[in-house]
Amino acid sequence: MESIEHVLNNYVDLAVQRKLLLTPVYQSITLLVGSVALYFIADAVYNLFFHPLANVPGPFINRISKIPWDYWQWSGRLPQRTAAVHLKYGHVVRIAPNELSFSNQEGWHDIFAKVPGREQWPRHPRRVPQGKGGPKSIMNTAGSEHARFRRLLNYAFSEKGLQEQQKLISRYIDFFINKVDGFAKTGETVNITDWLVMVGFDVISDLGWSEPFNCIEKGEVHPWMKTFAQTAFDSQMKFLFREHGLMWLAPYCTPKRFQLARLDNFKYARNRIEDRIQNGGIRGDFWDRIDIKSADDNASGEGLTKAEMVVSAVTLVGTGSETISTLLTGLVYFLGTNPHAMKKLVEEIRTTFSSVDEVDHLSIHKLKYLTACLEETMRLYPPVTTLLWRVPPKGGGYANGLYIPEGTGCNMSLGGIALSPDYFHRARDFCPERFLANPPAEFKNENHKPYHPFSVGAYNCLGQNLANAESRLIITKLLMKYDFKLDKNTPEDWTDQLSWAVFVKRPLYVTFSPR
Ligand code: HEM
Repeated sequence: MESIEHVLNNYVDLAVQRKLLLTPVYQSITLLVGSVALYFIADAVYNLFFHPLANVPGPFINRISKIPWDYWQWSGRLPQRTAAVHLKYGHVVRIAPNELSFSNQEGWHDIFAKVPGREQWPRHPRRVPQGKGGPKSIMNTAGSEHARFRRLLNYAFSEKGLQEQQKLISRYIDFFINKVDGFAKTGETVNITDWLVMVGFDVISDLGWSEPFNCIEKGEVHPWMKTFAQTAFDSQMKFLFREHGLMWLAPYCTPKRFQLARLDNFKYARNRIEDRIQNGGIRGDFWDRIDIKSADDNASGEGLTKAEMVVSAVTLVGTGSETISTLLTGLVYFLGTNPHAMKKLVEEIRTTFSSVDEVDHLSIHKLKYLTACLEETMRLYPPVTTLLWRVPPKGGGYANGLYIPEGTGCNMSLGGIALSPDYFHRARDFCPERFLANPPAEFKNENHKPYHPFSVGAYNCLGQNLANAESRLIITKLLMKYDFKLDKNTPEDWTDQLSWAVFVKRPLYVTFSPR
C-alpha cells in the first residue's frame, strides 16, 4: 500500500499538497479569528447600544473599545486627549466603554466632594498604588483607615506645623539663592528644571526623611528624582496590567533598574525612619508629632506602624518634591515668555519688600499678583495632571443626573476644565489677571468654580499649605535679587510634555543677572 506521502508526491501538484496538509491548521486559525472577531463585534454592539452608558457622548472608537484609552495612558497623552474630547463632546464624556470623564462643578460635587449624609465615592480599587500585602498608605486606604493617616499627618501640613518647619525650609531656599548668585555673576546658562528639582528635593527629604541630601550644595539631582517620572510610568502601567489580569507580566515589562531604584528607595527611607524613631525629639520636620504616637509601633492603634511611616515618608517625598518643582519650572517658563506678567510681578515684589530679609511665610501672602500667577500656571501646566480615579459606591451612584453603574471609572479632567471657553476667556493664553479679585473687564464673566488644582473632598491635596508657602518663598526671593531670561532656543511648545500623573519635565535653560 502506498503511503500518503508517496501518493502526494506522485499524483498531486505542490500547491494542492500544501493546502491539503495545512487544512486543519487553516480551519483552527479561521475559527479562532472568527470567534475573536465575533466577540469584539458583539461587545462593540453591546457597548454602543445596550450599555447603561450608551447615551453618554464620546468618540465612536472610545465608546466601543477600551484600547484607545489604554493607548493614551500608555503613551503619556491621556490628559491632553481627554481634554480634546471634552472640547468636542461636552462636560460629561465617555472615554472608554466603562470610563467617564467630567469637566464641570457637578462632577466635583457628585463624585469628589464630601457631602454630609452621602457615602464618599472610593478610589478605583485597581488604580491605586498597592504593594502585594504591603503596608497601607494614605493613597490606598479609604474611610476610617484613610482618616487615621490624614489625622496624623494633618498637623505637619497645617499652618502651625508649617511655622515650625520654617527654619528648615528657608535654609535650603537660601542655599539655592546663593547658588543663583554664582550663576548671575558668571552669566552662565543653567537648566533651571534641574535646580528647582534639587531645591524641592532638599527641602522635602529633610522634612520627610529627616536627613538632608544637599543636592543644591553638590549640584546634583538625586538619582531617586532622576527616575521619578519613570517610576510614575511604572505604577500607571501596573494599573493597566492589573485591569487586564496580566499583573504577572508586569515585572518583565519594567526595566530592572526602575525596580531596583524603588527597592533602594524604600530601604533608604526605612533606615532614616528607624533612626528618626530612635533619636526621637522635636526637629521641625513631619515626624515631630507622629513619632510620639508611633513609638510603640502603633500598639495603641492610633498612630502609624513603622512600615506605614516608611511608606508615608516615600509618598510625601515623591509627591512633595515633584509637584512644587513642576509648578515653579512652569512659572519660570510663563514669566519668561510673557514679559507683561514678568514686569508686573517684579514690580509687585520689589515694591512690597525693600530687602530679601523681609520675605517670610507670612509676608508673602501680601503678593496678590504672585498668587494669580501661580493659579494661572497650575491651570495651564498642572503639577498633578491626572487624579486617581473614583468609582461609584456599591450598587452604583448618580453624578450629573446620570445613573452610573458600579465599577465605572470616573475622573475629572483638569485639562478639559482649563481649556473650556465656558469657564475661561482666551483659555490658551497665560493671563494671571483673570485670577485677581478685580479682574479686567474681558475676564469679568469667567466662571472659576470648577477650577480645583488641589482637588476637593476627603482625598484632596494634603500638602497645599506647604506648596503655597515654598513656591512663593522661592520665586519671591529669586526675583528680589535677580532678573532672568529664557534661552532663545526654548521651544514654543515647551509645555507640551508627556505625563503619567505628573509631567516628564523638559529642560528649561535660563540666564540670571543681578537686578
Ligand atoms: C503645587 C503643588 C501641588 C499640587 C498642584 C498638588 C495636587 C494634588 C492633587 C490634585 C491631589 C489629589 C489627587 C487625587 O485625588 O488623586 C493631591 C493629593 C495629595 N497631595 Fe498634593 N499637590 C501639590 C503639592 C503637594 C505637596 C507639597 C505634598 C506633600 C509634601 C503633597 C501631598 C499630597 C498627598 C499626600 C496627597 C494624597 C492625599 C490623600 O489621599 O488624602 N502635595 N495633590
